[in-house]
Amino acid sequence: MILVTGGAGFIGSNFVLDWLAVEGTPIVNLDKLTYAGNIRNLASLESDARHLFVRGDIGDGELVARLLNEHRPRAIVHFATESHVDRSIHGPAEFVETNVVGTLGLLEAARAYWARMPAAEREGFRFLHVSTDEVYGSLEATDPAFSETTPYAPNSPYAASKAASDHLVRAYHHTYGLPTVTTNCSNNYGPFQFPEKLIPLVIVNALAGKPLPIYGDGRNVRDWLYVNDHCEAIRIALARGTPGETYNIGGSAERANVDVVTSICAILDELHREGAPHKNLIEYVTDRPGHDRRYAIDATKITRELGWSPKERFETGLRSTVAWYLDHMDWVQSVTSGEYRQWVAMNYGTRSVA
Ligand code: NAD
Ligand code: TYD
Repeated sequence: MILVTGGAGFIGSNFVLDWLAVEGTPIVNLDKLTYAGNIRNLASLESDARHLFVRGDIGDGELVARLLNEHRPRAIVHFATESHVDRSIHGPAEFVETNVVGTLGLLEAARAYWARMPAAEREGFRFLHVSTDEVYGSLEATDPAFSETTPYAPNSPYAASKAASDHLVRAYHHTYGLPTVTTNCSNNYGPFQFPEKLIPLVIVNALAGKPLPIYGDGRNVRDWLYVNDHCEAIRIALARGTPGETYNIGGSAERANVDVVTSICAILDELHREGAPHKNLIEYVTDRPGHDRRYAIDATKITRELGWSPKERFETGLRSTVAWYLDHMDWVQSVTSGEYRQWVAMNYGTRSVA
């Protein structure tokens, strides 16, 4: 079995569903259920004995130690994060608390558990740290894409907190020998993404006839990856990655924000005639402070060494993502109304459940 943290968030819940479908071995899913965590993402697993959900904090050393000792996972896959750049600009402290201090707590618990494992199991143990390309900073239009040797230059409090967590993971390998693998991935999109990030925000706002805010001149570039491709890359890095190594993961799909937004509008015009042409809703708004201009990933290493490459093209992935949101208006409704939070409060209160 494996322990997943943050498995009720966007990528984590896609990973849990994908893992159980492909690998099939049990998962303990530790998630605090912040605003970004939505247990309803995993509603299809309600009666699946292979999925044990535990509400709790990665920084709760006692809880993590208990889960590790009880369930004896062969790996930890660490997604739990405060993940939204704009929120980090308004309140950086929580990002340091979860992403840095929380990761440190998790590493400490992992180290203690790993040190006591029987030798044969210890060798196979992995701590897979899921990170971002934002740790590398911003590229100019003609710069080469980020590789694993690009110097760290984080620009937002989110990116800085992720960079700090990456360094701690590196140090735990170097100093204590903990078998860690770090993945640095580009922007993801797909089902279950919380509508504060660009793609789901634009879909959800367009469906509600609300403005589609584009920061600055809209020419900032992101390298988009369909979430299932990211999940597969993590599975492969977990199975075949070399301890102590880092792997960049990206979609080779650089797009300017304005092009992403107009593509979504065109897809909606076709799949959801009401409100067309949706591009009339576009509004240019004040830029994000310190807004990174361009991200791009060179994924040569993971392709060459581990045999991974993305399967989904951006155009088809974007289309199926828009279709997913249209087919899951109940999910959108529960998220936008905050109703899923009331459900969490009612079901879990402030308790941890195991
Ligand atoms: P998310 O914000 O959707 O989900 C984060 C999850 O972590 C939520 O379920 C939340 O409840 C949980 N969580 C937060 N604090 C916690 C704590 N202290 N203890 C336990 N659980 C906690 O994030 P996401 O987009 O799914 O990102 C997952 C990981 O992937 C992050 O490490 C992020 O840095 C990385 N990443 C994301 C992207 C992207 O485009 N979304 C791209 C590259 C890398
Ligand atoms: P986001 O989804 O927040 O991801 P990140 O900042 O981690 O890359 O934003 C993606 C891009 O879209 C980024 O350049 C900021 C921009 N953006 C907008 O133009 N408008 C918006 O309302 C949001 C949320 C983002």
